[in-house]
Formats: sequence, C-alpha cells, structure tokens
Amino acid sequence: MSVPKSEYLSNVWANDIFANRVLFITGGAGTIGSAQTRALVHLGADACIIGRSVEKTEAAAKEIAKVRNGARVLGIGGVDVRSFDSLKAAADCCVSELGAIDYVIAGAAGNFIAPISSLSPNAFKTVLDIDTIGTFNTLKATIPHLVDSAARNPNTDPTSTSHSGQTGGCFLAVSATFHYTGMPLQSHVSAAKAAIETLTASVALEYGPLGVTANCVAPGAIEGTEGMERLASSLVSRRERSKGIPSGRWGVVRDIADATVFLLSDAGSYVNGTTLVVDGAGWRRQGGV
Ligand code: HXC
Repeated sequence: MSVPKSEYLSNVWANDIFANRVLFITGGAGTIGSAQTRALVHLGADACIIGRSVEKTEAAAKEIAKVRNGARVLGIGGVDVRSFDSLKAAADCCVSELGAIDYVIAGAAGNFIAPISSLSPNAFKTVLDIDTIGTFNTLKATIPHLVDSAARNPNTDPTSTSHSGQTGGCFLAVSATFHYTGMPLQSHVSAAKAAIETLTASVALEYGPLGVTANCVAPGAIEGTEGMERLASSLVSRRERSKGIPSGRWGVVRDIADATVFLLSDAGSYVNGTTLVVDGAGWRRQGGV
C-alpha cells in the first residue's frame, strides 16, 4: 500500500516547484530520508537515493516513484558514505541517468546508544566517519554539480529580477539538537553533528558567491525513527517526553519533509549557512531529547 500524501507533505506547496530538478540523497531509504524524497518527487523532482543496502535502497526507490506519474527515482545501493570513491561514482551515475544534480541531502547517519564508559575509540570514530566524514564526502562528490545547477538557475544571479520560482544548487545536511546542550549516551553523535553544522556554514561562505545555498535541518524527537525510538526508550517514556516538548507532541516525518521543501524552494533561497531546528522547541526546554 502506498504512503498517503498527508504523511509526508502539507497541502501548502505548489505541485511543480521542483519540476525538471534532480535530488541526490544519502540515507534516502531511511525514515526521514524517504519522506524528504517523497515530498520532492511529489512536487516534480526526479531523485537518486543512495544507501548501503542494495535491496532496501532499490525497494525504496521503486516505492517512492509511485508518488507521481512519470517520476524517475533511481536507487543506488552498495554505497557507504565513508568511501568517497563510491559516492563519486554514484554522483556520476546520477548525472548520466537523470541529467543533473540540483539538490543534495546528506542524510546518512549511524547511531547507537552508549555511555562514554563503553565507547571504544573505534566506536566514537565510526560515528564521526559515517556522519561527519560521510557528509563531507557527499558534499565533495556533488559540489561541482551544485555549482553547475546554480549557474543554470537565473534566480541565483543577484542582479536578476527574474523569479521563475525554481531553484538549484542547494545542499542540505541533516543535523540533530543534542550538541546544543550535550547529551548522555550520545557523545559521539553530538560531536559528529556539531561538526556537520560548522562544516555546512563554511560551505555557505565558500560557495554562496557561486549561487549555492548550504543549510542544515535539525530534527528533534521524530516519531518512528530508529535513532529516537532507541534513545527515548533508554531515557524516559515517550508519554513523559511529549509533556516536556513545548509544542506538546513528538514530531512526524512530514515536519522534516516540509522544512526541507521550504529550504530547497525559492521561498528559502535567501536562507544560507544556517540550521533550521524542527523540534517543537524541545531542546530549549530539556536538551535534545
Ligand atoms: C558500543 C558499539 C555499539 C554499541 C557498535 N559499537 N555498536 N559500541 N555500543 N551499541 C562499536 C563496535 O564495537 C566497533 O568498535 C565500532 O562501534 C564499529 O562497529 P561496527 O559494527 O564494526 O561498525 P559498522 O558495521 O560500520 O556499523 C556502524 C554502526 C551501525 C553505526 C555501528 O549501528 C550502523 O551501521 N548504523 C546505521 C543505521 C543507524 O544507526 N541508523 C540510525 C541513525 S539515527 P570496536 O572498538 O569494537 O572495533 C541517527 C539520528 C541521530 O543517526 C539523532 C537521533 C535523534
């Protein structure tokens, strides 16, 4: 059964805002990544989703393609973001099959619950390798294509008054909120996500003059995600947690997909070098979880 639109997209967006555009996303078969991809494909984009598991990635691509007649969604499995070469090959394949890369979402992540006392140096390094180095590798493999996309897009010319409503040349990394306060059992992820945010800000400074935008989205407690289900059950019951979130509920993947659409759309084209926190003000009240 296909996923109802209300689960991944609000009703406020115009249907063709991403027409003739291509999304390249790591972690695109994951809970948040597949909602982000569904949303963009629904609004006109083609997409290339990258993952470690061949089976899971190809199945997700097939499923996501159903959201719009004529959508082209390519699933490239067997790619570990810790390997720059395999990402570069995937980016080249995306361009040769789908014609371009206009948007990149670096969503692949690794996580487990562990206190520092049981975190080996290799365990800590593994999460930084997947999250931080993986984000850098994704950027490095795709940035020439984002620069090309920005150059083709009249809206990114600061002297242009033409606003077709379309965009291109946008990089979006997926952060978290743990590092704003520090988080027990998540020292490795906190360190990795802090680095991702400052890396992304530097991308905005270096590539902003070429028309590229680079931002992060920082999800709070999102229903159904592997990381939060594991973490929340280790800390405190979900009912207790919802009470502590000023907006009164856990987030849903649609909250992150909508934020993604905003950041990649013309409406978000002057948002650059920042992090959009989507957490119902949760971290301000009680830290990241
Ligand atoms: C302590 C652990 C551990 C655990 C693994 N390690 N699990 N240490 N507690 N629970 C240690 C291992 O002992 C080893 O160190 C090192 O980590 C590498 O482990 P491997 O299994 O060899 O690594 P690998 O096969 O590359 O797997 C990476 C992984 C795995 C991160 C450990 O869980 C994974 O692939 N996860 C991807 C899927 C995932 O986690 N999704 C959730 C993302 S959610 P030694 O010293 O023994 O060699 C997310 C959101 C964060 O990121 C924010 C939430 C809100």
